[in-house]
Amino acid sequence: MSVARFGPGPALRGALRPPPDKSISHRAAIVAAMGEGEVAISSYLDAADTRSTLAAVEALGAGVEERGRSDGGVDLRIQGIGLRGPGAKAPGGTLDLDVGNAGTLLRLLPGWLAGQPDGAWRLDGDDSIRRRPVDRVAEPLGAMGASVSCRDGRLPPLTVNAAPLHGAAHHLPVASAQVKSCLLFAGLLADGETEIVEPAPSRNHTELMLRAAGAAISVEDLRTLPGLGGPPERRLRVAPVETLALEAVDVPGDFSSAAFFAVAAALVAGSDIRLERTGINPTRVGLLGILTRMGAPIWVEDEAHAPGGEPVGTIRVRHGPLEATRVDAAEVPITIDELPLVALLGCFAEGSTVVAGAQELRHKESDRIATVVAGLAGLGADIEAREDGFAVRGTGGLRGGALESHGDHRLAMLGAVAGLASADGVQVSGMEAAAVSYPGFEGDLAGLTS
Ligand code: S3P
Repeated sequence: MSVARFGPGPALRGALRPPPDKSISHRAAIVAAMGEGEVAISSYLDAADTRSTLAAVEALGAGVEERGRSDGGVDLRIQGIGLRGPGAKAPGGTLDLDVGNAGTLLRLLPGWLAGQPDGAWRLDGDDSIRRRPVDRVAEPLGAMGASVSCRDGRLPPLTVNAAPLHGAAHHLPVASAQVKSCLLFAGLLADGETEIVEPAPSRNHTELMLRAAGAAISVEDLRTLPGLGGPPERRLRVAPVETLALEAVDVPGDFSSAAFFAVAAALVAGSDIRLERTGINPTRVGLLGILTRMGAPIWVEDEAHAPGGEPVGTIRVRHGPLEATRVDAAEVPITIDELPLVALLGCFAEGSTVVAGAQELRHKESDRIATVVAGLAGLGADIEAREDGFAVRGTGGLRGGALESHGDHRLAMLGAVAGLASADGVQVSGMEAAAVSYPGFEGDLAGLTS
């Protein structure tokens, strides 16, 4: 286990291109493999999670060729096997697929495999993945006619046997882009229309990419009249297709990785940074609104669209005094991976910062309500866990000390940022976990603080 020490300070200054987006990289590899032709993907994230996805699509029969490196990622050519390719190429027995630590791969892939004409697949991963619930995909897939089974009815390994699927209407109990994406994939192979209602909008990278590949997906916000109240539900409808053809994809920088530096810059006096070519998809950037509400000097410049349709821009952040804020259920899905950083911001803000409606945090790479609260309390924070989130009383600073990553990449990087902003610095044990999404994290941080 690697141990690293961070801070206190110095200020962050200069410009950085964050590593390619993890969510979009997973989807690009899978949707390219679902298509008929060859797809060029530039800046595919070169990290443990997205390597697991490349290995999985290769095991299913897709051709994966690395052509070089750009913007902190790898340039790929993926030769698709077609929407019904895994079934057509299915060997006699069950094919084992190792998802490593990648929850997104674990939840997305069954949607594609379930509707195959033939074949059987078994998805398994590391110790952390074996604690991640999969009934959330197994049950709705079952309602479409899929044959999916899992350990104790809810945990990996998860076995999928090919079966004919029919369209169904799903009302998701929690907003989850992984579950939504899985059902969109299944809907492509079903015999009729599939409808999905999510309780609040979650990241829409799958919708954008499948549309770009020729799928018919309609999206409707159900709370259309302002002032009516009620939950901000979103309804999607997907029609079956025969084939998909994805054009080239250029993966933008990962907002969730950039977020660590944005928060560090907001917290450390004298900081002023630019995070270039970062994904700013509105279904991902809840933290921008939260930081703005808290009073941080943060804004976006040079907005554009990357090939593939995703919005990108340069995020500018400076240090400034912060005020406490409240984050509720509707904002949780678009901020889900950044909520640990909101807890850290709360330590420095004037007043009490509360995150509610975020019980999903308990099902991430670690129980992020428990690990974040224990981790920050150990550094001197006045923070309290709640069933569905946490409350932090801002004391204007953080003492520092030691923090354990629990093998969770976002917790390791949270510890590093806490160290920079703290009075005494923070020693993070298990820092190697950062490589799941951001292998160059320590080097990039050194570049901004040198
Ligand atoms: C992801 C969706 C989110 C997020 C995860 C990546 C995705 O999970 O926390 O890091 O790529 O679809 P949920 O769908 O479980 O909310």
